[in-house]
Amino acid sequence: MVQEQEQVRPDLPSIRGPLPGPLAKAIIARDQEFVSPSYTRCYPLVAKQGEGAIVEDVDGNRFLDFNAGIAVVATGHCHPRVVEAIQRQAARLIHMSGTDFYYEEMVALAEKLSEIAPGNVPRRVSFGNSGAEAIEGAIKLARYATGREKIIAFFGSFHGRTMGALSLTASKAKQRRGFGALLPGVVHTPYPYCYRCPVGQKPETCAVECVQHIEKTILKTIAPPEDTAAIVVEPVQGEGGYIVPPRKFFDELTRVAEQNGILLIFDEVQCGMGRTGKMWAAQHFDAVPDIFAVAKGIASGLPLGATVARRDLMTWGPGAHASTFGGNPVACAAALTTIALLEEDLVENAARMGAYLRDRMRDWPARFPIVGEVRGLGLMIGIEIVRDQQTKEKAPDLRDRIEQRAFEQGLLVLGAGENTLRLSPPLMITRDQCDFALETLSECLREASQHG
Ligand SMILES: Cc1ncc(COP(=O)(O)O)c(C=O)c1O
Repeated sequence: MVQEQEQVRPDLPSIRGPLPGPLAKAIIARDQEFVSPSYTRCYPLVAKQGEGAIVEDVDGNRFLDFNAGIAVVATGHCHPRVVEAIQRQAARLIHMSGTDFYYEEMVALAEKLSEIAPGNVPRRVSFGNSGAEAIEGAIKLARYATGREKIIAFFGSFHGRTMGALSLTASKAKQRRGFGALLPGVVHTPYPYCYRCPVGQKPETCAVECVQHIEKTILKTIAPPEDTAAIVVEPVQGEGGYIVPPRKFFDELTRVAEQNGILLIFDEVQCGMGRTGKMWAAQHFDAVPDIFAVAKGIASGLPLGATVARRDLMTWGPGAHASTFGGNPVACAAALTTIALLEEDLVENAARMGAYLRDRMRDWPARFPIVGEVRGLGLMIGIEIVRDQQTKEKAPDLRDRIEQRAFEQGLLVLGAGENTLRLSPPLMITRDQCDFALETLSECLREASQHG
């Protein structure tokens, strides 16, 4: 029976029994003994293989991956063209170290990133292996290029867990607790989280107080412009709760940065590479960063990070910054094919499927008393779960319950922020798969509402 179903719809989930199954249980037991307990596993998924938006676990259960491996597999799991590019490159040259030698794959990817970067600005690229490293590169370059030390970042932001990136991260206390003094000179300021406006404004009356606070308070007190190298911002806040700022926020932020000779650094690690229905989230706001960080979706799952900067800024000399593995040939080959696929039709599909999903979810706050807000751009969609729509009291327990119940029904979603569900499926997601996710989530929301 299960077999028959599988043959009919290989693109939809099928759950064979209680989760986790026996093989998953055994692996989790080994994990608990030998793997760092600092990882945040929300439910017991033990992945074995993936194809497109479907992930199969070790017990043969199939799930619809509405996380894309946490916003990474932009082209879907194991896209045949990405696999072919990786295999071809691996058979030819796996590593040479771009720190010390040249190879064309790195040059080609730097050229391509420069070509597709937001704004018509000549760029240079420095490669690392992760989002955190891309941010480290951005921090170092901003300090080096300006000769200034201070950096302004936003509450709710997530920029990574290495000590420099962690200094900018202000998402959850547990990410910082116990790690002692971080980078000096980092100042945090409220993000334009309009559903919970930090100064109690309404969209109609908003005077972009979030930027006024930077201009009128921070730059005039703790971070004088002549000491401030950069403002680092996620164009759409990711781990903080999938929060989309208003366009005027970027207009004002750009003005303040320009007037004070402060660099604008965008963290496009989660919201970049087509996820929002444009190649870069910055393009929704016509904003042009001086430096931006890319990782996650860039190479469909191979480790790669890139710090992309204005060419006239990235003039540091040999030895100032590099990484042994950063931009290795196999990851670059995967990235070049990923970008080709995004340009062919996946960014467009992200815009189309994202609009479809959000349209179908438009009435969710009316239908489900625990849905405070549905928001997002393209396939970066947040559903904020509250106990009461009037008080907006956060309901992290209900959010977690929905996440768990969705898993049991074969849909993989994760949380973001304290009480938001995030949807970040692969950009090749189909309408039928979106329909499955919508139906499953509706059911979970209905059930959780009864517990609210
Ligand atoms: C916006 C943003 N920046 C940086 C990072 C850090 O990336 P990585 O985990 O690859 O170091 C993340 C990871 O979630 C992210 O979402």
